[in-house]
Amino acid sequence: MKPKILVACPIFEDVLAGLREHFDVTDNQAGESWSKSEWMARLSGHVGALTVGANPVDAQVLAANPQVRIVANMAVGYNNFDVPAMTVAGVLATNTPDVLTETTADFGFALLMATARRMAESEHYLRAGLWKNWRYDMFAGAEVHGSTIGIIGMGRIGQGIARRAAHGFGMKVIYHNRSRLSPDLEAECKASYMSKEALLKTADHVMLVVPYSAESHHTIGAAELAMMKPTATLVNIARGGIVDDAALATALREQRIAAAGLDVFEGEPAVHPDLLTVPNVVLTPHIASATVKTRRAMAQLAADNLITYFSRGQALTPLNTVPGRAA
Ligand code: GLV
Repeated sequence: MKPKILVACPIFEDVLAGLREHFDVTDNQAGESWSKSEWMARLSGHVGALTVGANPVDAQVLAANPQVRIVANMAVGYNNFDVPAMTVAGVLATNTPDVLTETTADFGFALLMATARRMAESEHYLRAGLWKNWRYDMFAGAEVHGSTIGIIGMGRIGQGIARRAAHGFGMKVIYHNRSRLSPDLEAECKASYMSKEALLKTADHVMLVVPYSAESHHTIGAAELAMMKPTATLVNIARGGIVDDAALATALREQRIAAAGLDVFEGEPAVHPDLLTVPNVVLTPHIASATVKTRRAMAQLAADNLITYFSRGQALTPLNTVPGRAA
């Protein structure tokens, strides 16, 4: 009998077909959103799952599903996992690092450009039929090339953004991170380390790429927004909750900073209503890794984690160590 797994989110049909060769698969190609109790109930009877961040894996979910051996996240971020609780329960946790780094860095840069150059705001103006003449100050935004970018969170994606900024746009790169990069990496990214406060006061554009945790909750709140230049832009491609969205909406409305670009939101897919009414913000629905090629690579890596774990007792990109499980 094949092991039973739950694929809790829609994925590419051919990746799903590959999984069906190894597993008895319950899919969710309809893309239903489940409450935590529905997710716990759906997981019942399955020894593994492939999921995205909407579904939490914590002590309560694990206690209700002691048969689960592995949960594969189709994301690099894994703040939906309580990894210590998974380790205690002997459940392997996996994510999808590396395959999305450059694509996500591209998107961070796209959102920065759209924000600084007021692309969404000006497109709405054009579509509304308001464009009557050319004016010297029409949607005049902030310079990107040659300006200073401050990157908070200098992991693989942050470094990708730094390389684009320094080598492609001649920007000065400053960064803040829990630990400093090696001198070699700093040189390659042309990046200088700064305290968070100094970075916020210095940067023309602030880019957030830090993983979400209790420690990084509201890395940017009212106090931090007040430190930024009134001409500065803020881009969040990290996770909802890194920014206090209510405080940001107020700062945008009062033009205490110039503009923001957000791909992630506190409580998404809900978006703070005040963000929907301020003009100087570009909003996208958590799509930073969304190219066909990269989403396919993420789905395949998550699937391969399940396949290799059940066939060889090891996963390709594990986040914890638990006793192996060969078929
Ligand atoms: C997307 O947000 C991811 O973590 O991969």
